[in-house]
Amino acid sequence: MSQTSRDPASLTVEVDDRVASLLAEMTLAEKIGQMSQINIGDSYIHDYQADAIRAGRVGSVLNEVDVRVVNRLQRLAVEESRVGIPLLVGRDVIHGFQTVMPIPFGQAMSWNHDIVRAGARVAAREAARSGVNWTFAPMIDVARDPRWGRIAESFGEDPYLASELGRAMVEGLQGDDMASPESIAACAKHFAGYGAAESGRDYATTNIPENEMRNVYLRPFKAAVDGGVSTLMTSFSDIDGVPATANEFLLREVLRDEWNFDGLVVSDWDSIRQLCVHGLTENDEAAAFEAATAGVDMEMHGDAYARFLEGLVEQGRVNPALIDAAAGNILRIKFRLGLFENPYTDPEALPPPGNADALSTAREAAVESAVLLKNEHRALPLDASSLESLALIGPLADAPRDQLGTWVFDGDPSMSITPLAAIRSQLPGSVATEYVRALPTSRSRDVAGFDEAVAAARSSDAVILFLGEEAILSGEAHSRADIDLPGAQVELVRRVREAGKPTIAVIMTGRPLTLSNVVDQVDAILFLGHPGTMGGPAIADLLFGVASPSGKLPASLPRMVGQIPIYYCQKNTGKPPTPDTVVLLDDIDPNADQLSTGMTAYHLDAGYEPLFPFGHGLSYALFIYENIGLCRDEMHIGETLTISADLINASDRKAAEVAQLYVRDLYGSVTRPVRELKGFKRVELEPGERRRVEFEIGSDDLAFYGRDNRLAAEPGEFHAYIGGSSATELMTAFRLLA
Ligand code: NOJ
Repeated sequence: MSQTSRDPASLTVEVDDRVASLLAEMTLAEKIGQMSQINIGDSYIHDYQADAIRAGRVGSVLNEVDVRVVNRLQRLAVEESRVGIPLLVGRDVIHGFQTVMPIPFGQAMSWNHDIVRAGARVAAREAARSGVNWTFAPMIDVARDPRWGRIAESFGEDPYLASELGRAMVEGLQGDDMASPESIAACAKHFAGYGAAESGRDYATTNIPENEMRNVYLRPFKAAVDGGVSTLMTSFSDIDGVPATANEFLLREVLRDEWNFDGLVVSDWDSIRQLCVHGLTENDEAAAFEAATAGVDMEMHGDAYARFLEGLVEQGRVNPALIDAAAGNILRIKFRLGLFENPYTDPEALPPPGNADALSTAREAAVESAVLLKNEHRALPLDASSLESLALIGPLADAPRDQLGTWVFDGDPSMSITPLAAIRSQLPGSVATEYVRALPTSRSRDVAGFDEAVAAARSSDAVILFLGEEAILSGEAHSRADIDLPGAQVELVRRVREAGKPTIAVIMTGRPLTLSNVVDQVDAILFLGHPGTMGGPAIADLLFGVASPSGKLPASLPRMVGQIPIYYCQKNTGKPPTPDTVVLLDDIDPNADQLSTGMTAYHLDAGYEPLFPFGHGLSYALFIYENIGLCRDEMHIGETLTISADLINASDRKAAEVAQLYVRDLYGSVTRPVRELKGFKRVELEPGERRRVEFEIGSDDLAFYGRDNRLAAEPGEFHAYIGGSSATELMTAFRLLA
């Protein structure tokens, strides 16, 4: 099974030649067969499915992970069909297979390409062992609405962060050589704009002007295409009246003509037939026509292509060249995966799932995916040697399934190490722990266990509350309108606080939450996306100072739900608020019929800032930024310049910090965001160490889609900021000259 590495350019020509000669041998029906994906899913191949594969009417299957069944499916395709084309075997391997990494929203908190790539590599190896050769990840939808359940699968609110981490995930899944038995094809989804669903209701309509589409939502997809992603999936949603699955502008004009994408585009689950439900097409035949002509190569699960494409070609409505192109895109990926050489899977040739390497990657990923939101009076880390007793309270302290998060079809909860188990095994015997679940689930309003929780808190030296959301509260079709801690958790925090003990909240969630009603009730908050299999040991490492938190928020945490959408890279507006211009409800003069400070863009009851900004995250060390500078204060288009600042670890412990570069383009042919992330670096500093952090930025990095919707850097003035969050004030200025 070993592969030799070949020159990529010659490989492309070779693959294209092989695609062309295979297409020349195929009938129209066989080509259309490649364009159909069927669901298997129950470790059983029905006769009608076997017949369809033998007849060359299936190009791909999904949801089968029993390797013996997968090998049987491949045998039907390779040995019993006329042309012998192996199958793409798809599965949602979203953040791990058996070994579960933090949810993507959690991984985004690491701001670390390396750990995202490493986690994806583990996932690819474990999935490949089951015969899976294609995953539907990464999801790189820019997500600015925390009500949306699928924000859990995203890298958050920022197109640059999503581009960087999305590309790292693609690299981890596909590896250097996609034909290696340890690699699987990635799928960037959902093309495009799915995250902009109205009111965060999954599947709801999106209305995205072209300029915003290009400057925000398409950017991570362009990065993924440039990074070599093999496949893309369309979005379920309606975009400005034309659902993504029939959107010729996105699928042809942008993806093929502008970006030269030569991989395969798959629909989402039955989203072709849903064109009728959207009200775009009259019947499934029209839906097949719209999707195929728009550029969807493969239909996931539905049967509109299988039933109608051949007839549409025969009637002269669909050009046979279009079918050749679609089938060719699919075959190209099969060749690149090396499936024609190695269609079968030998699980024994791959490392076993859950091995030491996989678990240590999962642990490291979880450690780096924790954000220390606040840490008053240095409540954290806890010093185990000075504690006699510790109360561990809450519905997520010992919830092996919930800590895995959403989309874990193959995740094994029995492998999970919970915070309760990890803390008990890591603490010295001298520390007594008392565990009170207090609420049966995160949603529960049953307060019967609260007295016991308060009693445990009173009799302990410190309290750790394990709060958040169960896994089922986020993910596909799991949106929430209220994003406070669910159930009676806020009440639990208030009651436990009565004990007057140092109180730490560990929050595990599938989305940004509104924490205004608990933030002042606790001394420290450690905030995580569902952390996966090794969440417990990672949390224990962080609580007891074996590791220092280094995560940063990939999305703003709103004060209240009415502020949504709230994201750092907003436009300035014509009436921007400042702390001086904001008058909150309680301060309004009862005798005035106007605000004394003028009228600006903010909420009377929430102000204009989030509770915690994008990029925020504290450390047990103290990091200070100073002396921002430029190598020169002007550059021409086509040039680069270096922006740098001193980063100082003003503490007595070694720790890592994510230094961030933001740029503001002061004016443009279209208005520009108040800040945009343009670079970030994870830096580890010794106690007392001072290091110059440098970012090189070129005029291409300043390019945006202007009034003509073309990508260009426009000369003008820029501000640059370096710091530990999007709220940093450390600023310098430069000019871009023509
Ligand atoms: C629907 C989801 O939207 C998509 O992300 C997923 O990959 C498919 N179902 C397959 O499960």
